[in-house]
Amino acid sequence: MAAAADSHGLTFRQDYFGDPAAWAALAALLKATFGIDVSIQDRFGGPDPTSMPFGYFDADGVCAANFSAFSMPMIIDGRLVRTAGFQSGAVRPQWRGKGLYRDLMNRAFGWCDEQGFELGILLTNKPALYEPYGFRILPQHRFVGSPPPVATKPAGRARALSLDNAADIALIRQALHTRTPVSPVFAVAAQAEMFLLNSAFDASIRLSLMEDWEAVVAWTSEGTTFELLDIAGKSIPPLSAILSALDQHPDHVRVCFPPGKLGRQATPEPCPSDISLMIRGDGANPVSGPVMLSPMAEF
Ligand SMILES: CC(C)(COP(=O)(O)OP(=O)(O)OC[C@H]1O[C@@H](n2cnc3c(N)ncnc32)[C@H](O)[C@@H]1OP(=O)(O)O)[C@@H](O)C(=O)NCCC(=O)NCCS
Repeated sequence: MAAAADSHGLTFRQDYFGDPAAWAALAALLKATFGIDVSIQDRFGGPDPTSMPFGYFDADGVCAANFSAFSMPMIIDGRLVRTAGFQSGAVRPQWRGKGLYRDLMNRAFGWCDEQGFELGILLTNKPALYEPYGFRILPQHRFVGSPPPVATKPAGRARALSLDNAADIALIRQALHTRTPVSPVFAVAAQAEMFLLNSAFDASIRLSLMEDWEAVVAWTSEGTTFELLDIAGKSIPPLSAILSALDQHPDHVRVCFPPGKLGRQATPEPCPSDISLMIRGDGANPVSGPVMLSPMAEF
């Protein structure tokens, strides 16, 4: 944990998640700014241990400004790429326009460069904020198609998992820690916390265990459309087996990651969103073809 020179009467702190009061102060900043409660992560084992938060605090311990980096190794075109994600960027209104965020971005990007990360990645509704720091938009595509023929081999029945059940949470964590990347083209190789947090934030997301494949499938179903968000598993079942195990009979299937491992052709279509995926660094130069970061990895 480090404290350093004041700015605007505030104290700079880095790597402060070991201090529960400071973590709670960040959660309060994010609640006030984005209306989300990241403290529910405490139910799942706390924040990502690789997180490196950079923040400014006032004399009462209020977190005035923050920007965090964390490690999120990715598989990109078959190669493991040391990737840093950036998240939790916010400044309380009374401290905006004073250069605090510029200072925190410089510190966070500088730290990541020192650590040897090849690629930086973030999601934002303000891309112009990050362009001066070398970030560029990577357009996202989801992959749509008709369902495959019904599986000929019995796929076994999937079991619904619940985040209200400690044993299920442990099972999901285990699956995330031993997962094979869901795509060789563009996928998270290791990162558990966002998958759990995103599941907790969105009640429409369903998690199901396909025991035979040791795979946790994250999905939604709306009308006649089945949406496959992610698969955390030791192996990736084909789409036909997934639909059979989940007893789903959709007219349309939408896959939120490059679907090469699913044994089914799909057509990429631009993903409508106010949020841009941005990358910085050389690590993603080999990205060829359409990609999407699974919504379960969103941060
Ligand atoms: C966006 C936000 C973090 C900026 O914080 P801030 O401390 O006021 O920013 P700074 O004063 O350090 O300004 C840093 C730079 O960003 C620019 N900037 C600020 N707000 C911006 C915006 N909405 N869009 C584009 N650029 C912006 C500033 O002009 C400045 O540019 P410069 O370095 O060339 O002078 C703050 O307004 C905020 O918390 N907004 C709500 C949450 C949010 O949008 N977070 C970012 C989500 S990815």
